[in-house]
Amino acid sequence: MHEERRFPPPEALAAAANVTEEAYARAEADREGFWAEQAERLDWGQKWDRVLDWDNPPFAKWFTGGTINAAVNCVDRHVTAGRGEKVAIHWVGEPEDDTRDITYAQLQDEVNRAANALTELGVAKGDRVAIYLPMIPEAVVTMLACARLGAPHTVVFGGFSADALASRIVDCGARVVVTADGGYRRGAPSALKPAVDEAVAKADGLVEHVVVVQRTGQEVAFDETRDLWWHELMGRQSPQHDAELHDAEHPLYVMYTSGTTGKPKGILHTTGGYLVGTAYSHWAVFDLKADTDVYWCTADIGWVTGHSYLVYGPLANGATQVLYEGTPDSPHKGRWWEIIEKYGVTIFYTAPTAIRTFMKWGNDIPAKFDLSSIRVLGSVGEPINPEAYVWYRSTIGGDRAPVVDTWWQTETGQIMITPMPGVTHAKPGSAMRPLPGIVADVVNDEGESVPDGSGGYLIIREPWPAMLRTVWGDDERYKDTYWSRWPGVYFAGDGAKKDEDGDIWVLGRVDDVMNVSGHRLSTTEIESALVSHPKVAEAAVVGATDETTGQAVCAFVILRESAGDGGDEIVAELRNHVAKEIGAIAKPRQVMIVPELPKTRSGKIMRRLLRDVAENREIGDVTTLADSSVMSLIQTGLSSGSED
Ligand code: WT7
Repeated sequence: MHEERRFPPPEALAAAANVTEEAYARAEADREGFWAEQAERLDWGQKWDRVLDWDNPPFAKWFTGGTINAAVNCVDRHVTAGRGEKVAIHWVGEPEDDTRDITYAQLQDEVNRAANALTELGVAKGDRVAIYLPMIPEAVVTMLACARLGAPHTVVFGGFSADALASRIVDCGARVVVTADGGYRRGAPSALKPAVDEAVAKADGLVEHVVVVQRTGQEVAFDETRDLWWHELMGRQSPQHDAELHDAEHPLYVMYTSGTTGKPKGILHTTGGYLVGTAYSHWAVFDLKADTDVYWCTADIGWVTGHSYLVYGPLANGATQVLYEGTPDSPHKGRWWEIIEKYGVTIFYTAPTAIRTFMKWGNDIPAKFDLSSIRVLGSVGEPINPEAYVWYRSTIGGDRAPVVDTWWQTETGQIMITPMPGVTHAKPGSAMRPLPGIVADVVNDEGESVPDGSGGYLIIREPWPAMLRTVWGDDERYKDTYWSRWPGVYFAGDGAKKDEDGDIWVLGRVDDVMNVSGHRLSTTEIESALVSHPKVAEAAVVGATDETTGQAVCAFVILRESAGDGGDEIVAELRNHVAKEIGAIAKPRQVMIVPELPKTRSGKIMRRLLRDVAENREIGDVTTLADSSVMSLIQTGLSSGSED
């Protein structure tokens, strides 16, 4: 917080920047007019009557009366404009030399076929389609085909378990699932289809068709009455498809994310405003020059970053981008830098956890590659510590490329707070200022704006185009979760600080949500998974600070009497149980078997004290504990039982 370093924008970049200081003033003078101007960068059928309808808060409508097709904006219009031969996607498979360049014209052909294929399977406007795919072009094609038809997609990250997939399929009522036999991870095929089979069985006859992309060629169970091979289905489709224009507020997709309860929320994004927000922010924040830049966002398509800044934003802007299937260390730890060198990547967007991992692996690895093409670097997913920021800027950015630390959320749909590469004198570790057209603030418990130099809760004061519209099927939960703390104000769940200059430093979650490697996990959800194990009586989960992943999942578990001491295998058994219930990403780093949990007199678990234990700190104030001896009981019992 007492960071003195400043990195001004490179002169040449600033001189030709898409966004200058003037944009902030323009947006402040007339916010809706500003967003209407940004909407002009897209192709509309019917123009909108109203930019924003906020008559019934917190239910916003943007560009009402307007009609638009997201797929046409991301694909067809670039072909129509004569850019059909431009590469949309440089796809890089994990196995070496397994690459494919896809032009906008080829993308159009495939999206149209896929739209026809989904239609053949009975998918109509409004129907939901679940997507469970690796990072292959078919994932982008399927999303855009859904958007073309107006059939909202719900993409489920391939690291989620069959149970998690099933609950998402059921919650949004998807009757078609698109998956693959598997994908490549760490040099080996990793199966996806078995999880889909299990999920479909759990979904009680809801799913009518499963479309399977043949990616790895591994053996899969195939139910002829339900399953179809992607290549067979696509092969018989016409590459022509007339796109319907949809209402600007037509649902585009549902993305599930963890909250403070055990049940993930389906965040609903709609079409017009979302596309305006993502296209503008992608162009502005990364200073995109579509004719010359090569952009690469390493996020998985299963997260919101993959939706906004790999599919909709970049493609709406006609960008050329890299899409990489695998892990950064396969077959060697320089794989990402090798890809940057090969394709001449100019804009690179990744997460702090990856940056810290590369720092650990050593500077000699990126030093072997020519990274001089890079001109803008982005960071997303969690606060970036100044050391990682400075390393990223110097080692990857050659001390010339500005780093944009972008704060946003699944719910916000678009980047909200960030430096601008051609404007901001950036401070390492600070997300700096709201984007033009965004009104954010830091407030105290009473909802009052805090003065510069103070901390509080991060809030958004005015609606923005890519904002979530509701929680799928649960308007009450939408109101309660995001809009109830202070009237008319969106509360994001993060704590933040305004420094002496009024610049914003995001400090992290203030609720029971953890951030592990930039992935959002709910403590409650993992606790429910643990107590569903027959040997577990009670569980408490905390996010402990972790050098690489930001936070790590630490679980404290009380076993049932009947389980005895649980046996030698109990820790591994419980970790695997969480992986099975939720997914490998939620697997606790540590499981500690304890005789008691610290609780207040009203029975609330004091996670703060458990965090002290997990982070090997001296235990804090225990005076509000119902039984103050509990903490010493826990600590003496911890001689064994942890792993990794
Ligand atoms: C939470 C949202 C944004 C897409 C990826 C994660 C944290 C995100 C930053 C940042 C500090 C950040 C916040 C936020 N977060 N970006 N630049 N600085 N914190 O999306 O899963 O919806 O998580 O990630 O805590 O609330 P998500």
